Amino acid sequence: MPRISKKGQDMPESPIRKLVPFAENAYKQGKTVFHLNIGQPDIKTPQVALDAVKIHSLDILAYTRSEGSEAFREKLANYYANHSIPVKHDDIIVTTGGSEALLFAFGSITDIDDEVIIPEPFYANYNGFSTASGVKVVPVISKIEDNFALPPIEEFEKLITAKTKAILICNPGNPTGYLYSKEEIKKLAAIVKKHDLFLIADEVYREFAYDGISHYSILQEEGLENHAIVIDSVSKRYSMCGARIGCLVSKNKEVIKTALKFAQARLSPPTLAQIASEAALETPQSYFDDVIDEYVQRRNILIEELNKIEGVQVANPKGAFYCIAQLPIKNSDTFAQWLLESFDVNGETVMVAPAAGFYSTPGVGLNQIRIAYVLNKESLVKAVNILKEALKVYKD
Ligand SMILES: Cc1ncc(COP(=O)(O)O)c(C=O)c1O
Repeated sequence: MPRISKKGQDMPESPIRKLVPFAENAYKQGKTVFHLNIGQPDIKTPQVALDAVKIHSLDILAYTRSEGSEAFREKLANYYANHSIPVKHDDIIVTTGGSEALLFAFGSITDIDDEVIIPEPFYANYNGFSTASGVKVVPVISKIEDNFALPPIEEFEKLITAKTKAILICNPGNPTGYLYSKEEIKKLAAIVKKHDLFLIADEVYREFAYDGISHYSILQEEGLENHAIVIDSVSKRYSMCGARIGCLVSKNKEVIKTALKFAQARLSPPTLAQIASEAALETPQSYFDDVIDEYVQRRNILIEELNKIEGVQVANPKGAFYCIAQLPIKNSDTFAQWLLESFDVNGETVMVAPAAGFYSTPGVGLNQIRIAYVLNKESLVKAVNILKEALKVYKD
């Protein structure tokens, strides 16, 4: 049989999806599974976006321009202006989800064996995108005791080599829920300018900033125009994960010119989904106010309930809809599997994401899990109670 590529063999499996067969078995046994493991919000997609797809008047579902439809990009520029982010439509390339924007960013700025420094724990697919691009992830550890704040800038400094091309952050963070402050962004801006690196910020959770703290985009930072690349998406903002629309935004013309070549190779982002996403930009502020209010209530309940469990340590998230919890166990991979295979409370169990998959340093985060608070409050309380009961009897 012809041989599979080394790159293909090295592609990491999703740390979340590998537990799916165990969840399916649990359903077969008639159990209810509360999914704390995925970032698929249960929030309704704005009606304007759904309606736009229903009432479109297209005769041909044609390609759009490779960089995305002009009308959509004009409105996106307007959206950014409303968030005090000064970009024009030609600083934006519409992509097939934030995922493709990440691939285009890596493709545009890195060569094989180049290095990208990423505070860990980080969004697990960064491992996949870097493997696909032949790039080495260099982790810098952020700690649960510090709520996963930006590690001291000297730690980054120590890791910079001739091969370093970029620092990548996720703000607010998946899986940490950490929201970087303006001061932290300024520290990162200074170091990338000093070493002439790119700063990539995955800001797909921009709207999800809590406790009255506002999100500070790297594109708001003056003097960073040639360094800053933002990854964005409609997936979480409008609960439109299935639309598969995101974008890459940069004031650096060379980055845009290069990313456009990658965009041209795949011809066009999805046309109908761009129509839906353009319409979604009309979503009233009241939608976000309600959504944020709901997530804050869920976070508060979740953290309060987790803190009641003996031996559990949890970082208090200020954004996105995830948190990392450290459990009094040795290995959360085995624990997550056991929960699905062998444990239930009155026929109900939970599925969690083992956190080791969000680290690239081996052996770190083994006793941690990521919880996504994408369930209603009642289900969240039940799910945490199941965790509590499970920890009373679990032995590893
Ligand atoms: C941090 C982060 N970045 C990027 C993505 C990719 O999102 P999409 O490709 O759906 O836009 C996700 C999805 O969960 C994410 O959590």
